[in-house]
Amino acid sequence: MSEVQSSFQQALIGNRNMEDTNKFLTKLKGCYFANTQLNLEFLENLDDFEIRDDDVFIITYPKSGTVWFQQILCLIYFEEHRKGIGNLETVERIPFLEYFSREVDFAERPSPRLFTTHIPYYLVPRGLKNKKAKVIYIYRNPKDVMCSYFHFSKKLTASATDNFVEFMNLFLEGEVAGSLWFDHIKGWYEHKNLFNIHFLMYEEMKKDLRGSVLKICKFLGKELSEEDVDAVVRQATFENMKNDPRANYDNKLKAYFGIQKKGHFLRKGDVEQ
Ligand code: A3P
Repeated sequence: MSEVQSSFQQALIGNRNMEDTNKFLTKLKGCYFANTQLNLEFLENLDDFEIRDDDVFIITYPKSGTVWFQQILCLIYFEEHRKGIGNLETVERIPFLEYFSREVDFAERPSPRLFTTHIPYYLVPRGLKNKKAKVIYIYRNPKDVMCSYFHFSKKLTASATDNFVEFMNLFLEGEVAGSLWFDHIKGWYEHKNLFNIHFLMYEEMKKDLRGSVLKICKFLGKELSEEDVDAVVRQATFENMKNDPRANYDNKLKAYFGIQKKGHFLRKGDVEQ
């Protein structure tokens, strides 16, 4: 980096320093994780975590459509969720490996177990490389990821800055939970042969939700009736999810971040031009 570039960048970064970053993030084996509700002990021993052949993992870089896909998978797998019976939230049905998981006993969960995670490819449990358990990797264009991330962090006061340009620099330097977007996606893509993995693009889901649901059902070996596919698609639209307390994470924001009035987890759900 040239001297001019570096002083320009310094000017943009302003007073931000590593201490600010450390307040919000924990670095483990080269990857940043958000401190809030992080199950660090579990993460440190993840390599040995026992994988079952019928486990399914949703893997994403943050802000790429994770909660959307949690809802889709819940609707595919759980009839009562599809029929609107019961109030179990999607994150209870498909918990995060590394967040909110201190009270969850994964070994006790009935099969098929469904998981969500933001981990990079090199942190996964060893057993996932036997190619039996399934991985669905959702990715989204980095500009929208960054904008979504900025608004999310600002809402949660969960990053070292609430200034957009400063946040952009953090994002571009990988000083956010998930580290560098590019490394995450490249790592998973370049190592795809190690896994039984299906890649799905947020933008493709936006363009053709029904087609995406059908592709995923095929990958998972799930045969749903036309009527059931209709029910999945209907309940996975942005508007319907926004009004569905099982899927919109508003309860989680209230419980963990005390957020009530500053907006919702489901913000815009668009592909920006
Ligand atoms: P925006 O902030 O751009 O609105 P994640 O779950 O990985 O944190 O991603 C959150 C992003 O996915 C948010 O983007 C959110 O609105 C969007 N999203 C969630 N459900 C969606 C849906 N049904 N359709 C489109 N986008 C959705």
